[in-house]
Amino acid sequence: MKILVTGGAGFIGGNFVQYMVDKYPHYDIYNLDILTYAGDLTKHSDIENKDNYYFIKADIAERENIISLFEKEKFDYVIHFAAESHVDRSITDPEIFVRTNILGTQVLLDAARQNNIKKFLHVSTDEVYGELDFEPSTFFTEETPLQPNSPYSASKASSDLLVRSYHETFGLPVNITRCSNNYGPYHFPEKLIPLTISRVLNNQKVPVYGAGNNIRDWLHVLDHCAAIDLVMHEGINGEVYNIGGHNERTNLEVVKTIINSLGKPEELIEFVQDRPGHDKRYAIDPTKLMQLGWKPKYNFETGITQTIQWYLDNKDWWEQIISGEYKEYFKKHYTLE
Ligand code: NAD
Ligand code: TYD
Repeated sequence: MKILVTGGAGFIGGNFVQYMVDKYPHYDIYNLDILTYAGDLTKHSDIENKDNYYFIKADIAERENIISLFEKEKFDYVIHFAAESHVDRSITDPEIFVRTNILGTQVLLDAARQNNIKKFLHVSTDEVYGELDFEPSTFFTEETPLQPNSPYSASKASSDLLVRSYHETFGLPVNITRCSNNYGPYHFPEKLIPLTISRVLNNQKVPVYGAGNNIRDWLHVLDHCAAIDLVMHEGINGEVYNIGGHNERTNLEVVKTIINSLGKPEELIEFVQDRPGHDKRYAIDPTKLMQLGWKPKYNFETGITQTIQWYLDNKDWWEQIISGEYKEYFKKHYTLE
């Protein structure tokens, strides 16, 4: 079985590649990634010499290369993670989000359609549903209308609709998964949780947007990987599955949890100007996926403890990111101290 994983050098795709290489030694896992700022292969040093792991450096939006790759390799499954994924970057530079997330997905869909793929699993996000208000009994279900608010979520919603259309029009076997916010090992330190851990460990201020009241529904990345594994094997073609574990926290709660567990002072928190169009609350109803047989292993307490420990044990990995090539980005965005 040949499985193409796009974006397998990034955070979630990277965890998924490692999970699949270890769990299914009889599957061949092809990691296709262009290695943007968010992609790095050092995370795969434990698997790079395994017989069932392959890396292909390629751009999903380069049509000719992708079509000829599919013709040559005859993949059975495509698990599509590759994307521009950071909301803040989509506000300052939306165009690359359109190219990668929409055009890139459409190129892959064409390649999949022409080569009789068994399944195209499109990894999407709960952010396509827009925002919920603070009423704790409301949740995103698979029937919630798409109402994206950021250029990032608008590009993801567009790609979801293309995937749906290739199923309806061409009969392509697809699934779409929409997961809540992930955290865990190898999370790029521009996102809230790894940013907070890395900055607190360096005794730097942590920028909290607005009053810190916005709510996210946090899921450990390995629970996301297990959900994708299940949908890939058992998902009904054409269906959407929401993924989330009922771990809603305000941003302020998340930041305080990290600061307290590292034994640092809460004075490190700095309230800064709010993000434009900042979605108030995300919360997933995962009933449909649970009926398929999925159950998360981590709750927020166990997951964040494991994650903080991972960042303590793997300082080299995130230090080389924040002090290396991307130093200017981090300096430009977070000059608080
Ligand atoms: P990430 O930014 O960490 O990784 C994205 C990867 O895609 C990188 O390795 C990058 O090099 C690669 N990539 C970007 N453009 C490419 C191109 N043109 N061709 C080939 N590769 C390219 O992202 P992530 O957080 O791991 O998210 C992965 C997927 O999961 C995305 O589709 C995202 O929308 C979705 N998702 C993320 C979250 C989250 O909390 N991070 C939650 C739900 C869904
Ligand atoms: P983020 O990790 O960027 O994920 P997303 O925007 O996709 O949910 O942000 C999570 C939440 O944390 C979001 O409400 C914005 C907020 N946030 C901050 O308060 N400060 C920060 O420095 C960042 C990056 C995010």
